[in-house]
Order: sequence, then C-alpha cells, then structure tokens
Amino acid sequence: MTESGYQDREQSEIKHHAIRLYLEAAARIVGSAFDIKYVDCCAGPWNSRDSEYRDTSFGIAFDVLKASHAELAKRGRVLSIDCLFIEKEPDHFRLLDAFAKKQTSLGIKVRAENWDFVERIDDIVHYCSPRGAFPFILIDPWGWKLAGISQISPLLKLKPGEVVINLMSSFITRFVNDPATDLSDLLGEDFPELRKLSGTELEFAVVRKYCDLIKREGKFSYVCALPVMKPDTDAFNFYLIYATRHPKGVEVFKQVEKRTEELTHLVRADVQRRQRQEKTGNFELFDSQVLYRERKYQQLAEENRVRAKKRVWQLLAESDSVSYDDCWAEALQFPAVYQSDLREWLTEWEKDGKLQVKGRKKPTEVLKRSYGHSLALPGKSR
Ligand SMILES: C[S@@+](CC[C@H](N)C(=O)[O-])C[C@H]1O[C@@H](n2cnc3c(N)ncnc32)[C@H](O)[C@@H]1O
Repeated sequence: MTESGYQDREQSEIKHHAIRLYLEAAARIVGSAFDIKYVDCCAGPWNSRDSEYRDTSFGIAFDVLKASHAELAKRGRVLSIDCLFIEKEPDHFRLLDAFAKKQTSLGIKVRAENWDFVERIDDIVHYCSPRGAFPFILIDPWGWKLAGISQISPLLKLKPGEVVINLMSSFITRFVNDPATDLSDLLGEDFPELRKLSGTELEFAVVRKYCDLIKREGKFSYVCALPVMKPDTDAFNFYLIYATRHPKGVEVFKQVEKRTEELTHLVRADVQRRQRQEKTGNFELFDSQVLYRERKYQQLAEENRVRAKKRVWQLLAESDSVSYDDCWAEALQFPAVYQSDLREWLTEWEKDGKLQVKGRKKPTEVLKRSYGHSLALPGKSR
C-alpha cells in the first residue's frame, strides 16, 4: 500500500493495525477504572517515513491514548495516562526524545529513556507500580533473544497488567535444529524435543510452548497469539503474543485478530499486484483481490480448528461438567479459531446426542460466556 507509507514493510502496517485496535478497545475499558501506564520497551523509531511518527508503535500508542483520554473525559472520567518509551540506540533515541518532548497533551505525560530495557527492568516495574495504575507493556525487539522468559519475567508478573510481545516465529523455527542455539529461555529446557517436528506442526508447537511459558511465568489466565504474515511470501513472519488475566481481554483481542486478518489479505493482495505489474509492465484495472493467492492462513485456520475441537472434547471428557466459559477460553486461545467455530462444534455434538447443555433459560438460548451455561458428556454429568 504505497499511499500508506508502509511499502516494503507491510508487516509493520499489519502489526501497527493490531496494536492500534487493541489499545483503542483496551484503553477505554481499563481506563474507566484505572490510571494507565503504557510502556513501549523497544520503541524505535525504526524505518519510520512519517514526520509525525504515525507509522511507529509509539506514535500510534500516543495517538490512541490521547483520543481515549478525551473520550473518557467527555464521559466524566478523568484519568492520568503516562507513557514510557524506551530505546537503546542513541540515534533512534534522539528522535524519540524529541517526539516525547513535543507532546504536551493535557492528562498524558510522555517520557523517553535511552535505556536497555532488560537492564532497567526494576525501573520499569517501579514506574508501573503506583496504586490504581494498570500497565500495558509492549515488547517488540529485533530477533528473539529479548523475548526470553528470564529477560522479561518481572514485566510478566506485574499485576494488574497486560503484555504484548512480538515473537519472531520465522527466525525461531529456523534455529530449532541448530545445535549451537540454546532456545531454552524461550521454549523451555525440553525445547530439543521440538526437533522431531517440522513445517506447520513445528511452528504451532513453538508458538504454543512460548504462550504456555508466558502464562505460567506471569500467572496469566489467557494467552492468545495473533499471526502476522510476510507481505510477499505465503508464510508467517511473527506472532503478537497477548497475555491477560481477564476474559474480556480475550474477547477484545480475538476481534482484533479477525480485523487484522482482513487487513492482512488486503495488504498482501496489493503487494502481489504490485509484483505482477513490475514483472509484466501491465497496469491491472481490476481489484487486487481478484487474483489474490494465499494458502498458509487458511491452512493455519483449518489445522487449528481441528486442534481446538479435539482439545475442547478432551476437556469435556476429563470432567463431569465444564462451563461454557472454560471451553470458550480453551478454544479461543488457538490462533484463527473463533466463537462461531466453538458454537458449531457444540451444536453438532448436541444434535448427535453426544453433549448435554445445562443452564439455558430457554431452549433456543445461544451459548454465551457469563451466562452460566455448562456442558457435559451424557453419562458423565451429575
Ligand atoms: C523492531 S524495532 C521497534 C519497532 C517499533 N516497536 C515499531 O513497531 O514501530 C526494535 C527497536 O528496539 C530497539 N532495541 C533493541 N534492543 C533494545 C533493548 N534491549 N532495549 C531497548 N531498545 C532496544 C532497537 O534499537 C529498535 O529501535
């Protein structure tokens, strides 16, 4: 999308779209009860082409938080929002600092620091810890080393708090088989087990393992992974890992995932058209979606629907009765799986007499989270 200023780094466009959607929803929900501390641990700017930095994670966050502050103030809720933007490279930092110093928006304090965020974790924790504050942490480093659990553990333990981490899955899967690379901080001591796997199975296992470790370390209730594709290849580039302790967060993030997928296909279709035009020299008149080709996302969705369905069935088989909410949480933590998929499986099982549903106020009531619906396999329910 040349006109968006993201040409040749469309994966950043997709990432920024997801960050914007997530923060727009989360800041309004969280901001009605808490003050907000927003920390971008690897802020940049990096490859920005916009003089106002509207194409950077920090520029987008500031913009969204400013709008959320104004929106909440209109509703009579005046909160304080503080932003801490961290950047290690002095050249990038100078630009970041100039941006921070320019922002004088009422109610939002912006501070930039020339830190290595790993070395200053205690300062970040201290910054995030006043009573009544809710920290949002973004960790978006180059490569994968700084996403290691021991490096970021104190940030994961901030409570309340939510974390978004860029997991460079495309690099990591390449290094799993390299005997010289120790991935234990990222994927656990037993990571060599992953060497038995390949292709989409390996990619799934890497992301799942990382999510499980993040969940355990931060005692999060839910961890979701939003896939970001490469713009010009039928492959995933990285995943945005999102950790929360609240089901509402999952609801919001799955909507973000859906809308990000929509943008992904639009952006990639434009890139494919540009490549065709460069090759043939012919200008195409029809919509770029007409000739769009993509298989990887569909494959991920198909495979994850099978995995999630199996997992929900397993959950039901393990207990006498399982709440719909627990099945929902389990299913939706699989990338590209949505509530509509879960409802489809449950309807199918119920129709086939394989599942009993309890707690419906009337027989036609649609299964919903927080409605007290519970599920059991016949013969198991008490
Ligand atoms: C991928 S770029 C960030 C892009 C930015 N989040 C965005 O989406 O616009 C990574 C940035 O993190 C910085 N960085 C790398 N290691 C860091 C560290 N340990 N502490 C702070 N910043 C770091 C790099 O200099 C670079 O500017």
